[in-house]
Amino acid sequence: MKKILILLILSLIINLINGNNSCNRDYECGNYPYAACNGGLNLGYGIVYNSNDNKLIVSGKYNSSDSGPFGYPYIFSLDTSATNNGSEATLVIKSRINGEILNTGQGFTTFYRVYQYAPIHNYLYLTFYHSGSTIYGIYDQATSSIKQVLNIWGIPFTIDFNKEETKTVYGEYGIYFIDKIPTEKSDFSNSTLLYQNQITNGIILGDDSKNIYISTYDGKFYLGTTDCRNCTQDKLKLLFTDSNVTSISGFLLVGDMIYYSNENGIKAFKKDGSSSSPIVLTNDSISSMTTDGKNIYYIVTGTTTSSFTNNAVVKSIPIPKVINGNITTETPTIIYTPKSDHQCQCAVGFQGDKCQTCNGKTLWNNGIPLCTPIDSETGYPQTCFTSQDCSNSQYINCNSNSTCACLPGFTHANNDCICSNGSIVWNNNYPSCIQN
Ligand SMILES: *[C@@H]1O[C@H](CO)[C@@H](O)[C@H](O)[C@H]1NC(C)=O
Ligand SMILES: *[C@@H]1O[C@H](CO)[C@@H](O)[C@H](O)[C@H]1NC(C)=O
Ligand SMILES: *[C@@H]1O[C@H](CO)[C@@H](O)[C@H](O)[C@H]1NC(C)=O
Ligand SMILES: *[C@@H]1O[C@H](CO)[C@@H](O)[C@H](O)[C@H]1NC(C)=O
Ligand SMILES: *[C@@H]1O[C@H](CO)[C@@H](O)[C@H](O)[C@H]1NC(C)=O
Ligand SMILES: *[C@@H]1O[C@H](CO)[C@@H](O)[C@H](O)[C@H]1NC(C)=O
Ligand SMILES: *[C@@H]1O[C@H](CO)[C@@H](O)[C@H](O)[C@H]1NC(C)=O
Ligand SMILES: *[C@@H]1O[C@H](CO)[C@@H](O)[C@H](O)[C@H]1NC(C)=O
Ligand SMILES: *[C@@H]1O[C@H](CO)[C@@H](O)[C@H](O)[C@H]1NC(C)=O
Ligand SMILES: *[C@@H]1O[C@H](CO)[C@@H](O)[C@H](O)[C@H]1NC(C)=O
Repeated sequence: MKKILILLILSLIINLINGNNSCNRDYECGNYPYAACNGGLNLGYGIVYNSNDNKLIVSGKYNSSDSGPFGYPYIFSLDTSATNNGSEATLVIKSRINGEILNTGQGFTTFYRVYQYAPIHNYLYLTFYHSGSTIYGIYDQATSSIKQVLNIWGIPFTIDFNKEETKTVYGEYGIYFIDKIPTEKSDFSNSTLLYQNQITNGIILGDDSKNIYISTYDGKFYLGTTDCRNCTQDKLKLLFTDSNVTSISGFLLVGDMIYYSNENGIKAFKKDGSSSSPIVLTNDSISSMTTDGKNIYYIVTGTTTSSFTNNAVVKSIPIPKVINGNITTETPTIIYTPKSDHQCQCAVGFQGDKCQTCNGKTLWNNGIPLCTPIDSETGYPQTCFTSQDCSNSQYINCNSNSTCACLPGFTHANNDCICSNGSIVWNNNYPSCIQN
C-alpha cells in the first residue's frame, strides 16, 4: 500500500518535472475559456510529403474537450515508419500557425489547407481565407505566421514546381511559367504565358521540367510543354478522358502513371496516353493525397467543422506494381486516426500556468477570448474586431485587415486620431478631415 502511494507521488513529481499537464476535461486546465483540454483533433485539408525526414505534413485544430475547435491551428508531422508492421503513424506538433482572426466581421482570417512542400527550400505553401478571398501563402517559420504570396480571385488556381525547385508552372486563366519558385506576388507578375485561356483543376510539371500534365473540369487530361508561348488550347495533346471526373482533389505523377483523386476514389492512367480505361486504386472519398514514390497517402473526406474536418483518417495504398505486364493493386490501410494529445492549451495569446495572463487587450468572439498585444508605437491593439477595440476616438476604424487605422485625412497622435491643419466635415454621420 505504502509502496503504491510512494510510486503515485513519485510519478506525480516526475509529471510535474516533465511539465506533464495531461488532462481529460476542460476544467482540469484551470479557467475555461482561457484554457481548455485538447479533445478530438479536426484534421485540416491537405497532406504533403517531406523527403528531408521521410515524414508527412498535415494540419489540424483540436476541439476543447467539451466544445468545438479551440486555440491555434497546428502543423503536424506524421511519422509513418512504424506502419509497415501494423502500428499507427505518430503525430507530433511541428509548429503552430499564428494570425487566425475568428471574428464575424470583415477581417475574418482563417487557415484553410496545407498546399505543397518544397523540401530543398523548406518552403511550406498553404492557403487561407481572408476577407472573403482565398490567399496562397508561405508559412514563415520565424514568426509562425503565413506570409501572403498571391490573392486568388475566383479563378481556379493550380501550381506545381519541378523537382529541383527552380521552375514553376501554374494555371489561372491560362497556363503560365515562372523561372523560379514563387515567394512573393511580383514573381507572378513576371511570368510567361504558355497556353491561353485554359482553365485547369490540376497541374503537374514533369521531371524533365518540360512536360506539363493538366486536368480540366470536363474530365480531360492533356499534355503540354513549357516550350509553347501563348499557344492556343488546340496545341495541348489529349491523353485521357474520364467524363465522370468534374473535380479533382489530388493529381500526382509517379513513374509512368498519372494518379487523380476525388470524392469517388483514386484512379490512374498511363502518362503516354495509352490507357483506354482508368485503373481504380480505391473507392474511398479523397480530400487530398500525396506520395513518397512508393505509396500514396491520402486523407479520407470527413464531415466539415469550419475549415477543418472531423472523422477524417489518413490512409496509405501502395503504388500499383506491374507484373508480367499486369497491373496489380493492393488494398489501402488506415495509418492514422486522429486522437487527442490530452494537453492543456491556452486560448490564443494567453499565458501563465492557468492561461490567466494577457499582455495586451482581450477581444471576444463567440464566448472565446483572444489576447492581442498592444502596438508600442501606436498604442492600439494589433488586432481589432470593432473600432471600439482600437480607442475611444470616433475618428478611428477597424479595417478589413482587422487592424486599427485612422479615418482618411486623420493622423495618429497619442492613442487618438486628430485632424491637424484641417477641419472635420461630417457627411452622413461619417467624419472626414479636409485639409485647409
Ligand atoms: C504524461 O502523462 C500521460 C498520461 O498520464 C502519459 O501517457 C505520458 O507518458 C506522460 N508524459 C510524460 C513526459 O511523462
Ligand atoms: C469538434 O467539435 C465539433 C462541435 O462540437 C463537432 O462537430 C466535431 O465533431 C468535433 N470534432 C472532433 C474531431 O471531435
Ligand atoms: C514497428 O517498427 C517500429 C520502427 O520500425 C519499431 O519501433 C516498433 O517497435 C515496431 N513494432 C512492432 C510491434 O514490431
Ligand atoms: C523576369 O523573368 C526574366 C526571365 O523569365 C528574368 O530575366 C528577369 O530578371 C525577371 N525580372 C524580374 C523583375 O524578376
Ligand atoms: C497572346 O496572343 C493573343 C492573340 O492570340 C494576344 O491578343 C495576346 O496579347 C497575347 N498575349 C501575350 C501575353 O503575348
Ligand atoms: C463513369 O461512371 C459510370 C457509372 O458509374 C461507369 O459505368 C463508367 O465506367 C465510368 N467511367 C469511367 C471512365 O470511369
Ligand atoms: C469500387 O467500386 C466498384 C463498384 O462498387 C467495385 O466493383 C470495385 O471493386 C471497387 N474498387 C475498389 C478498388 O475498391
Ligand atoms: C496477366 O493477365 C492475364 C489476363 O488477365 C492472365 O492470363 C495472366 O495470368 C496474368 N499474369 C500474371 C502474372 O498475373
Ligand atoms: C490589408 O493588408 C494587405 C496586405 O498586407 C494590404 O495590401 C492592404 O492594403 C491592407 N488593407 C487595408 C484596408 O489596410
Ligand atoms: C501641418 O502643418 C505643419 C506646418 O505647416 C506641417 O509641418 C505638418 O506636416 C502638417 N501636418 C499634416 C498632417 O499635414
